[in-house]
Amino acid sequence: MEKNILPQLEFFEQLSESYDQLISWPTRIGTEGMFFKKLVNDNKLKSSLDVACSTGFHVIMLRRLGLDAVGIDASPKMIEKARTNSITCGVTVEYILGDFTNMSKRFSEGFDLITCLGDTVAHLKSAQDLRKLFQEVYKSLNPGGLFVIQSRNYDFITKHHARFTPPTGARNGTEETLFFRLLDFNPKSLNLSIAKFRWHENRWESSVHTTEIYPHLKREIESILKSVGFSKSEAYRNYNFEDYDPNGSDLILIAQKKGVLKSRNSSRRDKPTSKPEAQPKVAPKKKELPSKATAPRSAKPSKHKSARKPSAKPKK
Ligand SMILES: C[S@@+](CC[C@H](N)C(=O)[O-])C[C@H]1O[C@@H](n2cnc3c(N)ncnc32)[C@H](O)[C@@H]1O
Repeated sequence: MEKNILPQLEFFEQLSESYDQLISWPTRIGTEGMFFKKLVNDNKLKSSLDVACSTGFHVIMLRRLGLDAVGIDASPKMIEKARTNSITCGVTVEYILGDFTNMSKRFSEGFDLITCLGDTVAHLKSAQDLRKLFQEVYKSLNPGGLFVIQSRNYDFITKHHARFTPPTGARNGTEETLFFRLLDFNPKSLNLSIAKFRWHENRWESSVHTTEIYPHLKREIESILKSVGFSKSEAYRNYNFEDYDPNGSDLILIAQKKGVLKSRNSSRRDKPTSKPEAQPKVAPKKKELPSKATAPRSAKPSKHKSARKPSAKPKK
């Protein structure tokens, strides 16, 4: 079968319809929720931005952990789903339709936590693109804020040509949907194909979506984080804070922006529930100096004077 390689955005637009079936959200949120709960509590985090939020379940999870939660994604269909999911879950969060490579100018305040999960970094083509994203994250964080990246472990995948991921599936009444993910190796990239089989009206319907992804290695990601200014980063193999393993399936990095995180009183929490689609205030365009651009721009003084210095590696 000839492979039709879709540009990133089209790939995600087409995938958006089945994304919540492809991803086993209850399982993911169950595991990831404990990790983020510890991170939030240990560091007294107050606000979060989920970069590449897709259908919004991490934004919803972070809101439920008590944070002012914002999500950004470039896919209109993903954002539409995210808004619907938040209404269904009864939580008030903000979603921004936009490109994360120039997002910082859209925020009038910094965030304590920024997440980029679900292998999103593998969709960035080059080290330059990674740097662009990390610079935007750095600008959008409060001093001392944390940046969490989760991707598949491409050190292992490229070394062992690991092509397959265990299939996933979902059932809705008599309808069953199965997904198979497959990697094909090119000299400098991979083709990611997601094959979908749907049992519908007594027969299997099938479709395949393919896009190109880029296997960034751990040392490359860490070196770009450092060059952008992050003071330290810790690597884990999973959401149980177990140390990174070159043979593990995942790479989780927690990087910290220089400075000391101050718990603060944010106005984001009080957005009206009747307008979940409201966009956050666009920050007035200012000449950006590295230190000023990252400072919270709220006029209100922080109510969290007792905030302690956060640690990128939470206590076990
Ligand atoms: C692999 S999905 C990850 C989704 C989610 N974070 C998760 O953990 O499942 C990548 C998401 O990134 C979005 N995306 C890709 N390029 C983007 C860009 N330049 N700016 C904002 N979002 C982007 C896609 O629309 C898609 O929803």
